[in-house]
Amino acid sequence: MRELLENASGRAISYLENLDKRSVAPSPAAVEKLSRLFEPLAEESAPPEQVLELLDEICSPATMAMAGPRFFGFVIGGALPVTLAANWLAGAWDQNSGLYASTPATATLEQVALGWLLDLFKFPQTCGGAFVTGATMANFTALAAARHAVLERVGWNVEADGLIGAPPITVIVSDESHPTLFKSLGLLGLGRNRVVKVPTDSQGRMRSSALPSMTGPTIVCTQAGNVNTGAFDPLSEICEHAHQHGAWVHVDGAFGLWAPVSPSTVHLAAGLSDADSWATDFHKWLNVPYDSGIAIAREADALRAAMAITAEYLPTESPYRNPSDFTPELSRRARGVEVWAALRSLGRSGVADLIERTCRHARRFAEGLKNAGYEVLNDVVLNQVLVAFGDAETTNRIIKELQAEGTCWCGGTIWQGQTAMRISVSSWATTREDVERSLDAMTRIARKHHSK
Ligand SMILES: Cc1ncc(COP(=O)(O)O)c(C=O)c1O
Repeated sequence: MRELLENASGRAISYLENLDKRSVAPSPAAVEKLSRLFEPLAEESAPPEQVLELLDEICSPATMAMAGPRFFGFVIGGALPVTLAANWLAGAWDQNSGLYASTPATATLEQVALGWLLDLFKFPQTCGGAFVTGATMANFTALAAARHAVLERVGWNVEADGLIGAPPITVIVSDESHPTLFKSLGLLGLGRNRVVKVPTDSQGRMRSSALPSMTGPTIVCTQAGNVNTGAFDPLSEICEHAHQHGAWVHVDGAFGLWAPVSPSTVHLAAGLSDADSWATDFHKWLNVPYDSGIAIAREADALRAAMAITAEYLPTESPYRNPSDFTPELSRRARGVEVWAALRSLGRSGVADLIERTCRHARRFAEGLKNAGYEVLNDVVLNQVLVAFGDAETTNRIIKELQAEGTCWCGGTIWQGQTAMRISVSSWATTREDVERSLDAMTRIARKHHSK
């Protein structure tokens, strides 16, 4: 076993050490070789070393270098080395971290990490938290708590009696809510389309003056950090208005929830702590391995009421915190371990520096592209940059060529009708030099298209 595991760690370390030297996107030839995986299920067993070798030789070259310093697609961080190391150790522990009684170490790490997160975000220590797979499930989980609370206030027990025949819930979103939020609403039986959509401004912020009147059970879904622009909804105004009418305010802060941690972005988060629930990712800006996120609810009891189960064989009665009392899953991996390791290693100042540094890189991208004559479409308030290189066809061709050239990787989007390239700087590993190298590649490729 030792030999096999040392073999695996050696391969993993070589992979990471060589990331900087390879194309960020896998080569078409490497992707082509994946077809070798489609073989019939073997009748005979194979030696584990051979399985590992196959995995490394066929699959490592076909991976996208998301763990490297120049992947700027979607909103994706690379795992901090300490979090990968913690992940390896936790993998060896193989703890099914649903219940404190059976996994005291990982349940304790999760509880400690939750306390630190509430401190970082400046939320009350009495909040409940659910460590889940990412922002999609965090939105789902937090909105389940919201659904419980707003119906309980009108005397309806949604967990027991369901939604059929329940008092109707008004769900308010914006026309810039993330697509996964609508999925969560669908999963909760609240409907992807049965929503009131508030219009947004040029940066994708909800226009609070356009909020509808609120009566009866109401959930307002706001956003901290638009996936394209990084902009925040006006949370103070929305919370004040919604709370006057007894509504529950949820914040999708998949990456924006981290803004208050840094002095240069704290102003964006005004009113954040006035909300009732929040969702964020750890695999984005905290740079822990996939998959990892959290749902937080001011009313811990609402979260527990939505998620806890009881059964004779499950020792859920405990003076300690059972992770699964707050999560959709019972059996679950110990996600809190890597979060604990990231926070224990970075400390408050390290987290602030990570946020500050990546935002600075984003501003440098915007400045470099503007200086080269290209149009930056958003106010670069956080770590997201939108750039158009001219019309849709030219911009799309430049994105494709940049991806194939391999220095860095950026994706495309359509922002308020205009085709743009998205640059999201979310990785701890990105240096100033990586930004300059990537800017050189972007402007070199763009110039070539403009001189044609
Ligand atoms: C604002 C927002 N909400 C939700 C999500 C979904 O996050 P995940 O893919 O981690 O579930 C994203 C992903 O980019 C996002 O930006």
